[in-house]
Amino acid sequence: MSDEASAASPSPVRKAVVPVAGMGTRFLPATKAMPKEMLPVVDKPAIQYVVEEAVHAGLTDVLMVTGRNKRPLEDHFDRVDGLESALRAKGDDKKLELVQQSSELADIHFVRQGDPLGLGHAVLKGELHVGAEPFAVLLGDDLIDERSPILPDMIEAQQRTGGSVIALMEVPEDQISLYGCAAVEATDMDGVVRVTDLVEKPAREDAPSNLAIIGRYVLAPEIFPALHATAPGRGNEIQLTDALKTVAADPDSRGVYGVVFSGSRFDTGDKLAYIQAVIELAARREDLGEDLRGWLREFVADLDD
Ligand code: UTP
Repeated sequence: MSDEASAASPSPVRKAVVPVAGMGTRFLPATKAMPKEMLPVVDKPAIQYVVEEAVHAGLTDVLMVTGRNKRPLEDHFDRVDGLESALRAKGDDKKLELVQQSSELADIHFVRQGDPLGLGHAVLKGELHVGAEPFAVLLGDDLIDERSPILPDMIEAQQRTGGSVIALMEVPEDQISLYGCAAVEATDMDGVVRVTDLVEKPAREDAPSNLAIIGRYVLAPEIFPALHATAPGRGNEIQLTDALKTVAADPDSRGVYGVVFSGSRFDTGDKLAYIQAVIELAARREDLGEDLRGWLREFVADLDD
């Protein structure tokens, strides 16, 4: 095993931080009075898929960083006595189970961000809860296909390196300017690269690679001092990417690594990607898929005509 691979992590990854305090301006007016993470993807709010993903990776301690309009999020993961007793009285066990699923999923905590001063600022709000342990960050509007989970590989890479691990995805060159972009070099760990630099939303010609940062992170606690030292950057927000860039450049840090994702993911904060997520997930469902696929075929044939 190399030095990189043998560096033991001080403690296991047990906690997930899920920032859900953004303004959701790309999805206005739907997000005027409701967080975008509560938009339904088929019949579950996006945030429930994200919490389920954390739980499947063994992270049952979930801290949500909320902002204005936090009420629907809190209520969704809480018990609703009136609804549950009405369903019980009707003997509708199936619906009762659906209602109870989200309140029994995980040990969910909430902290307020105050002003939405950026993703880095939201992650800093988790410092007290997380303490000196490595932890995962899952963006509440970013859905990862459950058939190709990435968190377990990221957690393993964190444990092997002791560093921070980001999720990367190859994107077409003309789209890299929409993302944070990573400069990387190979490691001797399968599927894991070392991140040497990060650039937020680079122009196509300045991008060091076609590897875009997507909304999953497993961070070493050394990210907190780096975030405290990070001045507001793009959009006057404290950017997590800027703090990771500092850590990646610091020879005394445990470093930043990347796991390259090759499954499907949907940024449900973007209107088009949201619509695609609803259609793709519904088309795969046992209860809806067949009817939807039939209708889609006819619909597309009509469009082609
Ligand atoms: P986005 O950049 O997608 O969120 O942040 P946004 O600012 O709400 O988006 P638009 O552009 O206005 O539509 C990614 C994740 O980080 C959270 C968001 O809620 C989202 O889940 N976030 C972002 C915070 O929690 N706090 C912030 O200050 C910014």
